[in-house]
Amino acid sequence: MCGIVGYIGYSKADNVIISSLKRLEYRGYDSWGVAISEGGRLNVYKQVGAIGEVESYELGDSTIGIGHTRWATHGKPSEVNAHPHLDCNKRIAIVHNGIIENFLPLKERLIKEGHRFVSETDTEVIAHLIEKNYKGDLEKAVVAALPELKGSYAIVAISSKERKLVACRYKSPLILGVGDGEYFIASDVPAVLEYTNRVVYLEDGDVVTITDSGYEIKNNGVEVSRKVELVSWSIEDAEKGGYEHFMLKEIHETPRVIEDTLLGYVSETIDLDVSFAAGTSEIIFVACGTSYHAALVGKYVIEEMSGIPVRVEYASEFNYHPAPLSRSLVVGITQSGETADTLEALRKAKRAGARVLAITNVLGSSVTRIADYVIYTRAGPEIGVAATKTFIAQLVVIYLMAAKLSMLTRSEVEKLVLELKLLPERVRRILDKEDKIREIGEFLADYENMMYIGRGLGYPVALEGALKMKEISYIHAEGYPAGELKHGPFALLGKETPVVACVIRDNTYDITLNNIKEVKARDSPVIAIADEKDEEVEKYVDFVVRTPEVDRIFTPVTYSVALQLLAYYTAKKRGCEIDKPRHLAKSVTVE
Ligand code: F6R
Repeated sequence: MCGIVGYIGYSKADNVIISSLKRLEYRGYDSWGVAISEGGRLNVYKQVGAIGEVESYELGDSTIGIGHTRWATHGKPSEVNAHPHLDCNKRIAIVHNGIIENFLPLKERLIKEGHRFVSETDTEVIAHLIEKNYKGDLEKAVVAALPELKGSYAIVAISSKERKLVACRYKSPLILGVGDGEYFIASDVPAVLEYTNRVVYLEDGDVVTITDSGYEIKNNGVEVSRKVELVSWSIEDAEKGGYEHFMLKEIHETPRVIEDTLLGYVSETIDLDVSFAAGTSEIIFVACGTSYHAALVGKYVIEEMSGIPVRVEYASEFNYHPAPLSRSLVVGITQSGETADTLEALRKAKRAGARVLAITNVLGSSVTRIADYVIYTRAGPEIGVAATKTFIAQLVVIYLMAAKLSMLTRSEVEKLVLELKLLPERVRRILDKEDKIREIGEFLADYENMMYIGRGLGYPVALEGALKMKEISYIHAEGYPAGELKHGPFALLGKETPVVACVIRDNTYDITLNNIKEVKARDSPVIAIADEKDEEVEKYVDFVVRTPEVDRIFTPVTYSVALQLLAYYTAKKRGCEIDKPRHLAKSVTVE
């Protein structure tokens, strides 16, 4: 997803901007560009592909500029479509994240008025609209252009004539970094962490004008003050810390992430406040991708423990279902807090009068402004595009929610808390034995198709395992309820299609073993994920990934860590770009 950077201060702007853009690479991009304002003109550099390793770029000595990493939506990745985009007279340059939905009629009108367009992007209309309104004051021109735009945007504008940056946001993330005598504007905090840990989270409708002497934020034309937050992440948090890939580092952070998330909400007992759920008739989870799989685990666990009916919807499909009732609790799970589909689903829920809770990993993210209540996972920044530690943190929050919503007795809750507190050690034991998982991952690297199966709690685990495998190794992997295979997918089985079976020792156990036998009878190699006390399963499968024994409801945690490692080592053996898989973005801010 696109990344934005702006800088004004005393350092060479091109170097600051490029190093900040590199910190946003995790969002995914296909082209990039920088514009600096120097000597009454704009110097622009754009390129397709990665920024690369060059440490210093020579656009000029200017100390003000903007930059962008583009993830193509309107128009293919190309130099001309890369941002920054300029007006006809090359006096104004802008970078943009989001989508301008009405760009076509705007473009047609502007062309009739004499504007010349060069790109296929929706973004270019913004530069021309600002140009049209520019009478020597960039802020006024931006403010005059905004009412014409329909859609979502985070924009930073610069002009050749004034030493200032003007930035604004609506439904796309944007933060202001406040340094000593220098200011940064960016899509996300890692971009500025090298320079400052003082950050303002801008809100929808904010327009910020930044000069050397400070910044002023207006919303609806009225000056507003926004809190400067101190970000506790260190720059090291956002770097690899000796691991070959962010993904592996982040999987290894899981024990600490569980501890940190528990620390926030558990003492002797569970302190999480769930009063937001009082009197709720149903819980509806809305989420995408991995977060959707966390929600599915939530359905099993919350229904089982509390008896409250739970619905789980893909956020992108939520619009096409009946609106929630006013007594519903709608829970958006989104690690980034910026996923456009999830935000839109939650807005719909609010319009219907439902209570809205967000579970997110990012302080101040857009979802926190929409939701009535927020629960934070405490996973720290996740840079690898594939969600790993944040998924586990989501599960931990879901367990806590389920326990608090349940009818459990005090001693049952204490037992559960004890089990939760043991989880970090259980996960450490999986990480200590990752060599075995690596061997199996390397075995899988030669295949092109796979199936993942599970029953009950094992089903969302299978879905998530398959998603991890396909997104980073590019092996076609499908997750199925184990009982569904015989209703069609059996036709795909055979020795060229390995099957990963998530085997949980609960009421699904015997029947899952039967399903494994059916698969083996069709010659597929079978890899079972099972706990170390399971002495039966190895008789029927080719490999077993052993995980420490935990209470059955926590198997999604241990099994998922094992499946994340399995996908990682398969992808590594295949030589894939693990942290930045092709075509994917970390933060999907378009619907
Ligand atoms: C997969 C992955 C994605 C995200 C999805 C939702 O590894 O990371 O499927 O889970 O894009 O993202 P969030 O949780 O930020 O809403």
